[in-house]
Amino acid sequence: MDASLLHANAKKMVAPGKGLLAADESTASCEKRFAAVGVPCTEETRRAYRELIVVAPGIEEYVSGIIFYDETIRQSTKDGKRFPDVLLEKGMLPGIKVDTGAKDLALHAGEKITEGLDGLRERLAEYKTFGAAFAKWRAVITIGEGVPSEACIDANAEAMARYAALCQEADIVPIVEPEVLIDGDHSLEQCYQATLAIHKKLFEKLAEEGVHLEGAILKSSMVIAGTQAAKQSSVHEVAEATVRCLKENAPADLAGIVFLSGGQGDEQATAHLDAMNKTGALPWPLTFSYSRAIQNPVLKIWAADTHANTEKAQAALLFRAKMNSLAALGKYASEMESERPY
Ligand code: 13P
Repeated sequence: MDASLLHANAKKMVAPGKGLLAADESTASCEKRFAAVGVPCTEETRRAYRELIVVAPGIEEYVSGIIFYDETIRQSTKDGKRFPDVLLEKGMLPGIKVDTGAKDLALHAGEKITEGLDGLRERLAEYKTFGAAFAKWRAVITIGEGVPSEACIDANAEAMARYAALCQEADIVPIVEPEVLIDGDHSLEQCYQATLAIHKKLFEKLAEEGVHLEGAILKSSMVIAGTQAAKQSSVHEVAEATVRCLKENAPADLAGIVFLSGGQGDEQATAHLDAMNKTGALPWPLTFSYSRAIQNPVLKIWAADTHANTEKAQAALLFRAKMNSLAALGKYASEMESERPY
């Protein structure tokens, strides 16, 4: 393990004003997203769409790295340049989603356990040859009657810590992503408690496994009321509760914390990140690692005319990336949205 390389790459991922773009939707997720905008989902349409993102001129100003899916890290531009190589040439880091999905947790109805540890050492070694500098593993935590259970918290934290250790052994920065789902009618307080519980267990397990926090990134969901909750959370409430929750368990030597958007609106996700970064000095950089909250307008514009709309879709991508970059610096204002090119 090269601790200084891990440290340097982790630092680069969360450099001031930069964040990550998650473009690691599995083929099944891609099917859903493409179907929603009326585009057939084939290997070629997925490639063409991802090419638009990867080659977008200037994206490197706001985005430090892009997370790929197994199919995507192997794909190339129409001129034959591999996607990870395009990123490396632009000074960005390629990342790879390595879990194999969240499956039903046995004897715990409605709860999930993320799989993918078997053969992971070998898969990481192969991804390394493509240039992967970091990896991602997503665990899913549901809030409901009696859940999350201790069994679900424990099993997912254990798997994430074992994944993180394997990544660091291979000099790949692990992103550990426990996503507390926004679906449901739970309150902000219930979300706070669930997030607190998984973070607490996760950092205990990471310490047990000997994971170097300076070379690791936490990808967190925000503390927010469920989408069906009678009382929705304000921007201030989300920012305050999320930062408070993170401070409870995330050690100061952690390289950084990035957020998923989890089904929040595009501008809402940006406003929440900005508000957190406006709360004053924090122990770690806080930035974005959004998929939908960046890609929503991009995919929609591209889908309207996949041949003619590449530049318009890229302009939307750049705009959302820039807004989130400003939010990562606490310099965003909602009035800026009037400048948007879509
Ligand atoms: P969303 O921003 O769409 O939640 O996706 C982020 C991600 O990487 C989920 O694993």
